[in-house]
Amino acid sequence: MLSEKQKLDTLMVLGIELNRIHDLDILLERVLTRARQFVHADAGTIYIREDQHLRFAHSQNDTLQRKLPSGEKLIYSTYTLPIDSTSIAGYAAATGKMLSIPDVYTLSTSKQYRFSKKFDQASGYVTRSMLTIPLTSSKKEALGILQIINAQDHEKRIRAFSRSDEKVMLHFAGIASVALERAQMTRAMILRMIRMAEMRDPGETGAHVNRVAEISLEIYEAWARKHNIDQKEIDKTRDALRMGAMLHDVGKVAISDLILKKTTRLSPDEYNIMKQHTIHGARLFSNLQSDYDEAAAVIALNHHEKWNGSGYPGHVDPVSGAPLPGYENHASGKKGEEIPILGRIVAIADVFDALRSQRCYKAPWDEQRSVEAIIQGAGTHFDPELVKIFLDRMPVIRAIQIRYADNNENDPAE
Ligand code: C2E
Ligand code: SIN
Ligand code: SIN
Ligand code: SIN
Ligand code: FE
Ligand code: FE
Repeated sequence: MLSEKQKLDTLMVLGIELNRIHDLDILLERVLTRARQFVHADAGTIYIREDQHLRFAHSQNDTLQRKLPSGEKLIYSTYTLPIDSTSIAGYAAATGKMLSIPDVYTLSTSKQYRFSKKFDQASGYVTRSMLTIPLTSSKKEALGILQIINAQDHEKRIRAFSRSDEKVMLHFAGIASVALERAQMTRAMILRMIRMAEMRDPGETGAHVNRVAEISLEIYEAWARKHNIDQKEIDKTRDALRMGAMLHDVGKVAISDLILKKTTRLSPDEYNIMKQHTIHGARLFSNLQSDYDEAAAVIALNHHEKWNGSGYPGHVDPVSGAPLPGYENHASGKKGEEIPILGRIVAIADVFDALRSQRCYKAPWDEQRSVEAIIQGAGTHFDPELVKIFLDRMPVIRAIQIRYADNNENDPAE
């Protein structure tokens, strides 16, 4: 067991780690993982406040996870709870108080809040001890709830949370809240940029870009595992990819409405202008202030390259748009592994989601037809190895489409 001093030192290091993460979803995942490690808890959930509700935002459960084949993910359905005294999480958010419950099944009937057995009944899991901690903004407003479930002793027996757990988790919640508030601000800023693009191009919605980002992450994680990429590198790339993928098409803001909103096929000249959105996008991030700008620039520039070299914009300087030295005279498309991996990944996620979606120039395609188009593109448009990974991940991709459905932008920063 760690001493109090060691715990505080660890908390400081965690604060630094959490503040390096830019993306909101990646942050929620890391906060929950670290909180659970601290107190040896089997499971947990983070809820994010949206007006008068808490939205179920992220969940982990080691026991249920172990029952899945490796690399598979638990698929949770998202739901909301009112911020009032009827649920445990709602009560903690309404009152700002931490709740430590040794056994949720023997909760005193004198309490206003009730434990909902729905999740246990649906999953076969047994929730016992539960520590529910409010996450609070610098203005003392509720940001969300961190709920840690089933603390374990050294023999992995479920135990109640101790006083020391409660104390350390209160500190941790303070650190996590600072990081959370910042990541929500960044996410809100990105969605604002996307809303500007959406005013121009009705296809480029918050829901579409979230789906493209989440599908891209799925493909990247499986690819990175297969290629034994170091975990630190994976974590860093996931963060940058989650945000860069959302911004893959922001360069469309520079394209005229006459082209963007055209309901029929583009003429060759119009299509050539349209192709410039890749360069406009890359230029927006060309200052390269952070890893995340660099990934965003790479993705904007390369998401329309094709595996067989027939894509665009090819070997060009992203700032001037001019062909790079040595590429002035021949067809310029990048080919195969010349295309950065993040560009190859987002290409699949973007085309799949564009096909599944309504566009001003096309009706949505059904899943089968869209999947067939991706399979057709393996080796010509897309990296065939990534197409295989994409097909393997279809169950998770369907869950992403439900979570980020078009009528439900589902963003906690909103
Ligand atoms: P987008 O609508 O986001 O589409 C992204 C990519 O998905 C397209 O890249 C293309 O590879 C694929 N895609 C989308 N719809 C279809 C389709 O109906 N059939 C096939 N086979 N593939 C499809 P692409 O072609 O480079 O286009 C880039 C962007 O240019 C599109 O982004 C869209 O904003 C615009 N665009 C392309 N074609 C047209 C068009 O005929 N009319 C209008 N108004 N815009 C178009
Ligand atoms: C609650 O906090 O009441 C919701 C969590 C659960 O029921 O498992
Ligand atoms: C991280 O370390 O997780 C992110 C680093 C960065 O994107 O700057
Ligand atoms: C276009 O119509 O030029 C783009 C859609 C497609 O690839 O068919
Ligand atoms: Fe694009
Ligand atoms: Fe797109």
